[in-house]
Amino acid sequence: MQSDLLPFAIGGVPVTHMVESYGTPLYVYDGQKIVSQLQTLQRAFTGVTLRLKYAAKALTNLSVLKLLRGAGADLDVVSIEEAQLGLLAGYRPGQILYTPSGVSFDEIVQAVEMGLEINIDSLSMLEKLGRKYGSSVPCCLRLNPHIVAGGNTKIQVGHINSKFGISIDYIEDIHRVVDRYQININGLHIHTGSDIKDPLVFMQSANILFGAALRFPHLRFISFGGGFKVAYQPGEYGADVQALARELVPGFRAFCKRYGRDLEMWFEPGKFIVSEAGYLLVRANVLKQTPAVTFVGVDSGFNHLVRPMFYDAYHEIVNVSNPDGPRRRYNVVGYICETDTFAQDRELPEVREGDLLVFRNAGAYGFSMASNYNSRPRPAEVLVYNGKAHLIRQRETLQDLTRNQVIVDFE
Ligand code: LLP
Repeated sequence: MQSDLLPFAIGGVPVTHMVESYGTPLYVYDGQKIVSQLQTLQRAFTGVTLRLKYAAKALTNLSVLKLLRGAGADLDVVSIEEAQLGLLAGYRPGQILYTPSGVSFDEIVQAVEMGLEINIDSLSMLEKLGRKYGSSVPCCLRLNPHIVAGGNTKIQVGHINSKFGISIDYIEDIHRVVDRYQININGLHIHTGSDIKDPLVFMQSANILFGAALRFPHLRFISFGGGFKVAYQPGEYGADVQALARELVPGFRAFCKRYGRDLEMWFEPGKFIVSEAGYLLVRANVLKQTPAVTFVGVDSGFNHLVRPMFYDAYHEIVNVSNPDGPRRRYNVVGYICETDTFAQDRELPEVREGDLLVFRNAGAYGFSMASNYNSRPRPAEVLVYNGKAHLIRQRETLQDLTRNQVIVDFE
């Protein structure tokens, strides 16, 4: 936690300096924090061959991808375009796990041709892959374990009603297809959702994965997915990855012994790596009073940070300009022509028009879920590293909004 007496700084650079240079709204990422989160995982899971496939969808900026590559991460991607960004950032195709859902077989063929690791999410695509490539293209299987994980139902994906993965109940059907085409299954995967705090969820997945794995003799890895919770609210704790490692690593090693070979342990963390490293800096444009509520209207909205509206997610807000002001309660809202409430009845040091506010935990699924709704350009992005602020994406302009429009004149 930062002291309110010091100017609010990110990676040693005061936010006021960055706002002077780049304006608001502005995304800022602390590169050191990103690397240290990766290292926390690297250090926790010792005694196994660990591969951390950073879930690029959380924050796809090329400079961030490069930073993580340098720190030893691989990538998990969900689209060909994410994979292409990975290649541009210098990842080798073999470092990239392609985990799509609901894409066309043509896209899977493209991924095969690019040399990515393929993760298959339906029996239909497994059948098509087998028919086209037989044993020549190895693939991983994404299983749906029917586990309810994490507290937020909007981001749970391992339950029986979820569209993701192949139901574990269809394991015999999977084997029929694998045997028919002699498909080389090189990995098994389960991802049950986001914001998972309880190690038990991963242990439940592990049990299912280990049980299934014994019947696939050519495995190279088992992926336990992503989803490690991070702290969003003051006083809240994220997933204890050391505790998870203490439970999972011995079980994994024992399983490898039974399996007869050492396998690689994979994870696909997104939030854990970049959430807490990211901040969205906004300006309070307007204070508005109703008989019931005091609104703070800021120069951003769900076009830039949709998590509070989409998932009812809590993002801590810091009033950088008036940290010692008397505490009052506000509804912090955006400038979009919809009800875009960032925070309801939130106690903050008194906010005055023109104050600089900072949203915490904006690194994951912040910019990457941003849009141009209301024809608002998306913010610039800054990466602070070794005490220096680097502009890593320029603020969009009107040209960006019109670039692909084809103007037909009907006059
Ligand atoms: N692996 C797979 C297959 C995934 O689908 C995801 C996230 C991850 C890994 C990374 O999960 P993480 O470690 O970031 O929790 N936009 C939502 C979260 C949805 C994540 C979608 N898949 C949010 O802002 O909370």
